[in-house]
Amino acid sequence: MATFMERHRKLERNVTLLAVLAFAAVTVGGIVEIAPLFWIDNTIEKVEGMRPYTPLEQAGRDIFVREGCYTCHSQMIRPFRDEVERYGHYSLAAESMYDHPFQWGSKRTGPDLARVGAKYSDEWHVQHLSDPRSVVQESIMPRYLFLKQQALDQGDMRAALQTLERVGVPYSMDAIAGANEDLKAQADPDADHTALFKHYPGAAARDFDGDPKRLSEMDALIAYLQVLGTMVDVNAPAAQEHLAKEQGR
Ligand code: HEC
Repeated sequence: MATFMERHRKLERNVTLLAVLAFAAVTVGGIVEIAPLFWIDNTIEKVEGMRPYTPLEQAGRDIFVREGCYTCHSQMIRPFRDEVERYGHYSLAAESMYDHPFQWGSKRTGPDLARVGAKYSDEWHVQHLSDPRSVVQESIMPRYLFLKQQALDQGDMRAALQTLERVGVPYSMDAIAGANEDLKAQADPDADHTALFKHYPGAAARDFDGDPKRLSEMDALIAYLQVLGTMVDVNAPAAQEHLAKEQGR
């Protein structure tokens, strides 16, 4: 014991030796953490049901980012009992694999939104976003009524999807070419939805903001909110199998 302490004292007082050994320790730790990533195929396993966002949902997501909703809302349910009981099944890595940039967030002034999709009706969202205190009396969320009054000016969605495709979101050439048409079709219940559903199986097409005559920013934002956390059926056998693997069972 005494000799160990003596040796350690020597090490502590010799700056060069300490630096060399500290470097060695950090190197070993680094290799152990980083090296396996080169041998596994993918750090995120694909889960059934995950699809890229439709152009309308993506446009809504851009509004979510623009308005800074992430400064009050996280989008990651952690695997703790209190979180799961409040928000639903904890988030899977695959559920944010197409998010650029991800919206996990680090601040919760409001609740987590990772599974807010299908929790409320579209009408509820319109009412809540227009005047939060008309639905939740003690809410401190700002009003976003202007989103309903502002026409959606999303620019060329082909360019947006092309960019996402470059960073790994699997949009087909066909989906990119039809992005602007798909965006309009999704918010119009009377449009032809064949191409939209072919590109995005399971997507919902309807008027989201209660005003079918106008395509507003509110349409896009609600289309995005309503899909959050709904793509993967976490209770389906395939997802359960994936979860078991993720947890090393
Ligand atoms: C200043 C902080 C703040 C900002 C910014 C903010 N929110 Fe909220 N949000 C809250 C609070 C607090 C609540 C809980 C009370 C309520 O429901 O209004 C909430 C609730 C919500 C809910 C209901 C969640 C649930 O499960 O009941 C949604 C949906 C939501 N916000 C969406 C948004 C969107 C979209 C934006 C950006 C356009 C946004 N919020 C910006 C604070 C904020």
